Amino acid sequence: MPRLSVWFIRAALFHLLLGFTFGMILLWNKGLPLPPQVWLLLPAHIEFLLLGWTMQLALGVAFWILPRFQTLRGNTAPAWAAFALINLGVWLVALAPYLPLTDSLRLAGRLAEGTAACAFAVHAWPRIKPPGI
Ligand code: HEM
Repeated sequence: MPRLSVWFIRAALFHLLLGFTFGMILLWNKGLPLPPQVWLLLPAHIEFLLLGWTMQLALGVAFWILPRFQTLRGNTAPAWAAFALINLGVWLVALAPYLPLTDSLRLAGRLAEGTAACAFAVHAWPRIKPPGI
């Protein structure tokens, strides 16, 4: 497995662990109420599981498995940028409720996530081809 896929999938599993933990706390809160601030965990729960886990797992596997050029994966720099940006974006959105400038941080996080998607597309587009070409 290429090094970038290892990082994508490790990061995905890390976010799965955190996302499920926060989900369990939120679920606990429904039966035995905790302080109301516990709801600030909801954005992190959603972000970690939808993008940090699911999307990152998909990107990691795609980088590994899409058709290659002989043995090479083409321009890998945008894919590395996507890895950095998606993690930056996920954490900005997750931490925004705890920090000043919440809305600006949330917007910055979303922009980072969107740019990550574009960067990965730039990397992957030439690899969407029949094998051997
Ligand atoms: C891949 C797995 C999961 C995803 C993508 C996910 C996603 C979401 C999303 C999008 C919401 C917001 C729903 C809304 O506002 O209407 C939510 C809420 C919630 N999730 Fe998850 N979740 C996952 C797994 C879990 C797990 C494993 C638990 C518990 C152990 C959990 C517990 C909760 C709770 C308690 C809420 C709050 C529900 C409410 O608004 O009353 N989630 N989740």
